[in-house]
Amino acid sequence: MRNRADACCSLFPLFKERKAMTKTAGFPREAVSPLLYWYDSEARDLPWRREPTPYRIWISEIMLQQTRVSAVIPYYLRFLERFPDPSALSRAEEDALRKAWEGLGYYSRVRNLQRAARILVDSYGGELPADRDELIRLPGIGPYTAGAIASIAFGLPEPAVDGNVLRLYARVTADSSDLSAPKVRSRITEDLRGLYRDYPEDASRLTQSLMELGAVVCLPNGTPLCGNCPMRPFCRGCREGNPSRYPSRKEKKERRKEEKTILVLRSQGRIALRKRPESGLLAGLWELPAEDGVLSPEQITDRVRNMGGVLSGPPVCCGEATHVFTHVEWHMTGWAADLAVPCPDLTFADPAEIRERYCIPSAFQPFLNGKARG
Ligand code: ADE
Repeated sequence: MRNRADACCSLFPLFKERKAMTKTAGFPREAVSPLLYWYDSEARDLPWRREPTPYRIWISEIMLQQTRVSAVIPYYLRFLERFPDPSALSRAEEDALRKAWEGLGYYSRVRNLQRAARILVDSYGGELPADRDELIRLPGIGPYTAGAIASIAFGLPEPAVDGNVLRLYARVTADSSDLSAPKVRSRITEDLRGLYRDYPEDASRLTQSLMELGAVVCLPNGTPLCGNCPMRPFCRGCREGNPSRYPSRKEKKERRKEEKTILVLRSQGRIALRKRPESGLLAGLWELPAEDGVLSPEQITDRVRNMGGVLSGPPVCCGEATHVFTHVEWHMTGWAADLAVPCPDLTFADPAEIRERYCIPSAFQPFLNGKARG
C-alpha cells in the first residue's frame, strides 16, 4: 500500500532524486515543499488556525506551553469569549481571570498575560507589536513564543523552536548533539532562521507544519510514524535506519518527591481555605491547609490548636493522592475533621462558593471531590 510519503514523491517527482539527501549539515531544503504540502492537506483543524490574529495566536501559544491541545481547546474558546482583545484582558478582575484559567495550571502564565496586556494598552495602542525583539520584552513571552507569534501571526521569518521542533530537527538532520545545551539550541535556531529566510512567503506555514509534524508524526519516546511522514525521503535519521535514536538522551534529573498532609477542616458545612504565599509554587492561589510531611492524628490536632482552632473529634483519614508538577511530586494524605472552634486566620467557604469563587489548584481537588484513593 502506498503511504503518504510515497504519494508526495509521485506528486513531486524531483523529491525522489538522491541529491535530496544533501551531504551538508542543516535542515534539508528539499523537504520544505513536501512538508508544506502535507501541512496544507493534513493539518488538524484547530480553533487558533481559523482566525490567526496576533492576539489569538498569543493566547493559544501561552495555553499550549504546558498543556495538551485537546485540553486547551475549551479553555481557549471560553477565554476569548470573555477576554476578546488585549484591552478586555487588561481590565479583567484577578479572580475572573484565575477562574477562566482554573484547571490549566501554571497560573503565572495568566498573570503574565494580563501584565503584558496592560503594557500593550499603555504603550502599543492595544496591539501586539510585529517585531520579535519587542515581543520578547513582554512578560511571559520567551524566544519560542516570540518566534511563534512573529511567524504565525505576522509572517515574519522567525522560527519557533520548542521540544517538538528540536526532536524533529535532530532526526531529520541525524544530529546527536545534546539538545539541552544552549549552544546547540542557538545553532539549530540559526539554521532554521536561514531556512525561513529562504522561504520568505511561508513563515507561518513553516512554523505550523514543523509543530504539527512533531506533534502527530515525528512522535517522542521512540515511536515516529515514519510511514506517514512527508519528509521521509530527506530524513537522514531515517536513512540511517533508526531515526528514534535521535535525539540522544541525557540522563533525566529525578523529580523531587515531597510528602504532604492535607487538612479538610469543616465548620458548619463550610471548609477551611488558606491563601498560598505570593511567590513560589502555586503562588497566591487558595489551598486546603497543607502541612509538610506525614503527620499523625495527634500531630494534626496539635497543628490545628497552634492555628487557634479546636477539633471536635479526632481527624479521619480521607485518602491519598499524588500530583506531579514539573520539578516536584506531591504525595498527599488527606485528613478530615470537624472544628469545634474555627481557626481565626483561615477562610471558610461552602462547596458552592468554592466552585464559583475560589480558584483551587487541581492538586487539592481529590480531597474536595472525594476522589482521593481510599
Ligand atoms: N503546540 C504549540 N503550539 C501549537 C500550535 N500552534 N498548534 C498545535 N500545537 C501546538
